[in-house]
Amino acid sequence: MPKAIYPGSFDPITYGHLDIVERAEKIFDDLIVGIAENPGKETLFSPEERKEIAELALEEESIEVSEVITFSGLLVDCAKKYNRESIVRGLRANSDFEYEFQMALTNRDLAPNTESVFLMTAGEYSFLSSSIVKEVKNLGGDIGSFVPNVVEKRLAEKFDLQE
Ligand code: COA
Repeated sequence: MPKAIYPGSFDPITYGHLDIVERAEKIFDDLIVGIAENPGKETLFSPEERKEIAELALEEESIEVSEVITFSGLLVDCAKKYNRESIVRGLRANSDFEYEFQMALTNRDLAPNTESVFLMTAGEYSFLSSSIVKEVKNLGGDIGSFVPNVVEKRLAEKFDLQE
């Protein structure tokens, strides 16, 4: 069975990401979650914090993955290092397609033996993003249906909000 990596910035991980993890695990029996240290955008949480939050969120939801790792540099180099033949990405809406298409073709060019696999996010999470979750929490909204408790708690601490 091919091994896969599910990469992303996970700043922070949401139920949308966890939905993709669960779907990917039906296809791959060895999945690692790869947290990009430099995803090309400013992050709220450090790579170590994002890793810890992802691990705690997976534990809270009783979802087991082989490992949660952080990586810097090219994704395809990380995939090679961990012997991953496949890169899993979630698709939420049409708007994701162009970006994912560009990334998949670039990665294929860089590493022809690494295949990108796209899984559709559950409809209920198709609008969700880490930015939306951060914004709603920072403005005092309820994010209980978007993220596990541990993520909500860590966001509250980061924004210095009373729970
Ligand atoms: N549910 C909810 N939200 C989701 C989601 C899902 N299933 N899938 C994606 N998202 C959201 C994320 O929360 C994120 O939201 P944000 O922009 O508000 O933070 C957004 O969609 C996109 O995030 P993500 O999937 O994490 O992608 P990314 O663009 O942040 O990172 C990497 C993509 C890390 C895989 C890519 O930058 C990479 O490979 N970097 C390594 C360097 C490299 O190899 N570059 C060349 C690549 S061609």
